[in-house]
Amino acid sequence: MDALRHTFEQQLAAALPGVEITLERPKSGELGDLAFPCFRAAKQLGKNPAQLSQELAAAIRIEGAALAAAGPYLNLKLAPETRAKAVLAAILEAPPERPYASRPANGKKVIVEYSSPNIAKLFTIGHLRSTMIGHALAQTHQFLGYDVVRLNHLGDWGTQFGTLLAAYTRWAQDGNPDLEEDFDWAEPAPDRRRTPLFRLFQLYVRFHAEEENDPAMRDEARGWFKRLENNDPKARGLWKRFRDLSLTEFQRIYDRLGVSFDTLEQGEAFYEDRLAPTMQRLEDAGLLVEGERGARVIHLEDVGIATPCLVQKGDGTSIYATRDLAAVLYRQQTYAFDRCLYVVGVDQVLHFQQIFAVAEKLDPWFKGRMLHTPFGMVKLPEGKMSTRKGNVIFLEDVLDEARERVAAIIEEKNPGLKDKAEVAEMLGMGAVVFFDAMNDRVKPITFTWDRVIALDGDTGPYVQYAHARIMSVLRKAGGDWALQAQAGDPEGPVVPFLTRPLPTNLDGLAAPEAQALLFELAGLPSAIAAVAEGCMATPLARQLVAVARSFSGFYTNCPILAPDNAPEVRDARLALCVATARALRQGLFLMGIQAPEEM
Ligand code: ARG
Repeated sequence: MDALRHTFEQQLAAALPGVEITLERPKSGELGDLAFPCFRAAKQLGKNPAQLSQELAAAIRIEGAALAAAGPYLNLKLAPETRAKAVLAAILEAPPERPYASRPANGKKVIVEYSSPNIAKLFTIGHLRSTMIGHALAQTHQFLGYDVVRLNHLGDWGTQFGTLLAAYTRWAQDGNPDLEEDFDWAEPAPDRRRTPLFRLFQLYVRFHAEEENDPAMRDEARGWFKRLENNDPKARGLWKRFRDLSLTEFQRIYDRLGVSFDTLEQGEAFYEDRLAPTMQRLEDAGLLVEGERGARVIHLEDVGIATPCLVQKGDGTSIYATRDLAAVLYRQQTYAFDRCLYVVGVDQVLHFQQIFAVAEKLDPWFKGRMLHTPFGMVKLPEGKMSTRKGNVIFLEDVLDEARERVAAIIEEKNPGLKDKAEVAEMLGMGAVVFFDAMNDRVKPITFTWDRVIALDGDTGPYVQYAHARIMSVLRKAGGDWALQAQAGDPEGPVVPFLTRPLPTNLDGLAAPEAQALLFELAGLPSAIAAVAEGCMATPLARQLVAVARSFSGFYTNCPILAPDNAPEVRDARLALCVATARALRQGLFLMGIQAPEEM
């Protein structure tokens, strides 16, 4: 396909000297495989776009393809056989784990910072957005040839620890004695209501509730944070314990989600001894100004940001922004990154504008390298989730519920399925993660169980089902067909394909439904590139649904294993099945979703 695109571009460039050539994908494979919108060129040449597209259609000749003007668009449509050969070769001649051959290393370093939950609060459905969007961005950049560093800016420092320490020392002894009491860490799915982390969370919520009526409690919390910053052994000891408990729980969730980081050690606390040098640098650059009540701030009006960036409170304690500044300086030094993506909620837009602006004032090197990719909040039907009030939806409750609902469906439809529990987990997770990706990144998601768990329509399980159905056809076909489509270890060494050469006779793929499937398969690479470009998984999720849907049309209309099929028809269709299975699995993998072989 790349070769054909190149030829088309060259011919256009020859016909239109001085015009920048950009190609698009037509809306459907009926129209063609590539489209050249004539608007810009026509304007440059002082022509009508429709007339220009007709002239070009008459002037350009490309072997194996037809050119047709459709209004202002010039469409190139491949002959059925050419399309089949191009798409199958692109997928099947690449290693099985990496259809479309992932791009060679481009030498660019991208930091993806994601998940970043706050310790001593629980992992909620909101954190899922950051975690899974970030995971998909990391996977995709890697696939596209970037050198990816996966970081988690754990919220393991800050005034909320003052609150927690104050609450713990006030109440832990009465009625909430030992955080780990009654709790067996070895249990696979502990009751969230009884974990140490949940008890901490309850203390936090209670403190905020009582503080409303007793403002003196705020000073108590502040005092504890001060003690923590001053290395008070009691404060330190408790902090460490809370952190360890949290990490154990987060790790369990990351394992379950199949997500990993290069390190969990670069959270907010990590930058503690880099705060003083950071403040010094800000001072040396002449950026620090005295704010209200002895606080220190940086003015940013000159770069269009009205709110000054607060970097030190009146009592001398550091804040969230100070740690982010220390972090970005550390990352510059350690990774010399080309791009640093912050996958953080839309409520922190101003914070990142401030951080980026201050960093650029310190060193113009930072300009254009950092990007906040905000995502919408997950809302309960009655309003924004708030950790303080305690009305949150816990991620694990959602995953468990999804798994149970899927398990019930399997029990009803396919009780003999092997590895039922594992398949239910893969599908439940697929449903939740895919639901998230199908939603626009920036818009808030209103969370309702039914929509998350819906197993029909544009969902993960729908795509997973298409894959499983293909695998079942390939198993029935016998020989090594299923093996050709089987998953290797995607992180492992590249296994050379292909024990079977591409079929030479592709007449079995001339039907419109086969052609439609080929067209959608050809759309995956640009969907993957769009994920990295737009920093959201939505284009990939949509394209996977399009592939699954067109597979269904192909499966219904083009018999694969029918006894009266000529062997070459059967082989060509089986090859398309192999290509589709690989492509679906690859796409799901990039999103962090597994594809069961059977369901
Ligand atoms: N811990 C923060 C929160 O949960 C997110 C951290 C985002 N990353 C950053 N570099 N500030 O709201």
